[in-house]
Amino acid sequence: MHILGLETSCDETGVAIYHPDKGVLAHMLYSQASLHEGFGGVVPELASRNHIHHTLPLIRSILEAGGIQKADAVAYTAGPGLVGALLVGAAIGRSLAYAWGVPAIAVHHMEAHLLAPMLEAEHPDFPFLALLVSGGHTQLVQVNAPGVYTILGDTLDDAVGEAFDKTAKLLGMGYPGGPLLSELAEQGRSGVFDFPRPMTARPGLDFSFSGLKTQVLNTVAKSHAGEQTRADIARAFVDAVVETLVTKCRRAMHATGLRRLIAAGGVSANRQLREGLLRMVRNEGGEIHFPRTEFCTDNGAMIAYAGWLRLQAGVWEPLRFAANPRWNLTDLNGGAR
Ligand code: KG4
Ligand code: ZN
Repeated sequence: MHILGLETSCDETGVAIYHPDKGVLAHMLYSQASLHEGFGGVVPELASRNHIHHTLPLIRSILEAGGIQKADAVAYTAGPGLVGALLVGAAIGRSLAYAWGVPAIAVHHMEAHLLAPMLEAEHPDFPFLALLVSGGHTQLVQVNAPGVYTILGDTLDDAVGEAFDKTAKLLGMGYPGGPLLSELAEQGRSGVFDFPRPMTARPGLDFSFSGLKTQVLNTVAKSHAGEQTRADIARAFVDAVVETLVTKCRRAMHATGLRRLIAAGGVSANRQLREGLLRMVRNEGGEIHFPRTEFCTDNGAMIAYAGWLRLQAGVWEPLRFAANPRWNLTDLNGGAR
């Protein structure tokens, strides 16, 4: 059994072949970062067009790398993400599945992120807590079993990755700024600037990160931002984000009684966050798991794996369209099927 995974939800074209016994046989990624850099963020139309260029050649290469002619199932990211970009993966994925006569599986991008630590040799047992930190999401999720999730906390405004990218932009860095900002923070001194830890003083597991960006903006405007000052501001931002996330994770562990935590999504590649979470979990006598760095950010392997779990659970879409001669005007969402 080989599952082909396709990821095209944003600015990375990711493909992979997963085998249930052998694990990830091959994975490849084309990053569009340089295409969007000059615009300071992802341009949706350019992203879609670029996915069209790269997806099929990457699929050819990954089949070759996996030593197979065709896959036994095709998993593709169906959402959330940029709709044009998603449609490229969905159209190619479903067409291939149709041509090969195999199931097509629509995968939820955030479910794939939270399952990514399962691709590691030392993976957590269910149930566990998941901190999902990406460019579009910041969530604390109770993972009861595959497919059974309770959202415990969410962001009220910006996602953490978005806050990293916007702050990096304020400090004059390119896109995506998260990793660059993190590197700059390494040169900075803790405590020179002090930013608030949003929403930690009141109870609850929700987040808010848009205020931090304003703090950075005000601080940059007030100070003569030389190289060391920029690094000190970056450090203060990272310290505030990490302490906030760590506080909420500790709170979620206490509230649920769960001792196992995973962190996933692009920002879980962040070194300072990993260290902060590790320290907290060690003090709490808990257990923490991360995906390997390349599987923190968007990739095809997590899509293939999530697809495999959906397939095992018997969830995939029939490769047919229907027309409904009795389609009721009040049943627009369900009635066409
Ligand atoms: O999961 P991901 O690849 O895409 C989404 O699903 O959004 O996450 C991308 C986000 C970007 O905002 C990027 O700046 C951030 O993750 N990111 C990082 C790091 N690596 C990626 N942020 C901070 N430190 C990093 N090392
Ligand atoms: Zn993602």
